[in-house]
Amino acid sequence: MMRRLAVLGHPVAHSRSPAMQSAALAELGLAGAWSYEAIDVSPDEFEQRARAMPGEGFVGANVTVPHKGAALVLADSLSETAREIGAANTLSFTEDGIHADNTDAEGLLKALPTSPQGEAALVLGAGGAARAVVWALLREGADVDVWNRTELRSRNLCAELGGSPVSVPDATTYRLIVNSTSVGLCGEDALAELPLSTSGFSAGQTVVDLVYGAAPSQLLAAAKAGGATVVDGIEVLVCQGALSLEIWTGYEPPLQAMRAAAREDKGRADD
Ligand code: ATR
Repeated sequence: MMRRLAVLGHPVAHSRSPAMQSAALAELGLAGAWSYEAIDVSPDEFEQRARAMPGEGFVGANVTVPHKGAALVLADSLSETAREIGAANTLSFTEDGIHADNTDAEGLLKALPTSPQGEAALVLGAGGAARAVVWALLREGADVDVWNRTELRSRNLCAELGGSPVSVPDATTYRLIVNSTSVGLCGEDALAELPLSTSGFSAGQTVVDLVYGAAPSQLLAAAKAGGATVVDGIEVLVCQGALSLEIWTGYEPPLQAMRAAAREDKGRADD
C-alpha cells in the first residue's frame, strides 16, 4: 500500500513542500511506494481531517500556517522541542497514536553557516515562526534579543522562552539577524517596516530572512551588498523538510535534490 505524506495548511497551494518532498522521494527510489501531497484544510476542519488521515494510508504530515498550534494540541505525544516551542510542524501517524515534532528550530540551525553559540543575535518578530527561532538560538547558547512591532508580544515571548525584549535595537551591533516576521511576504519593504537600514550591514554579520518572494528579498540584497553572509528562506525550508522526511522514512535526506526542487518556485519558508 502507498505510504502517503502531506502538508496541511490554509492556504497551501503556494507551498513548495510537495515539489521538494516528491523530488526527495524520487531521488531515494521511494516514489513508487511513498507519495506527498498538499491538503488545504480550514482551521475548524483541521482536527477532524488530521484524525482521519491514518485510516487513509497517511503515515505523516507537515503542518503549516495556521495549524501549528492545533497540531500540538491534537497530538497524543510530543517531542520536547515541540512542547517547549508550543508549535508542531511535523506529525507522525503511528500505532501508538499521533506524534508531534518541530523541525523548524533544528532546520534553522542547520541552515546557518556557523554555530551561533555565544553570538549576539537579533530576532525580529514574535509569532509562531519567531518562537522556533528564539528557542533554537537560545539552545545553541546565543545571546538573543527580540524586537517586535507589538512590544507586548515580544515581552511575553521572552518571559516564556527566554531572551531579552528590545524596543529600539541597533542592528549594526548584532552578529546574527533573523527576520521571522511576515514582512516581505506580500511585497512590503522590510527595510522600511523593520528596525534595519540599507547601509547597516557589514562583513562578519549573518542575516537570515525566513520570508522569500518572487524576487530575491530586498533585505538580503542590502545585507549582501554590505558584506554580510545571507541565508534565505528556501534554505531553511529545505533543512526543516529534510528533518521531517528523515523522521518519517528513516532515510538520509537528499539535500541537493530537495534544494533544486524547492528553488524551482517560491513561497514561504515555514511551509
Ligand atoms: P507566524 O506564526 O507565521 O510567525 P504571526 O503569528 O501572524 O505569524 O506573526 C507575524 C509576525 O510578523 C508578528 O511578529 C507581526 O508583528 P505584530 O505582532 O506586531 O503583529 C509581524 N509583522 C507582520 N506585519 C508586520 C509589519 N508590517 N511590520 C512589522 N512587523 C510585522
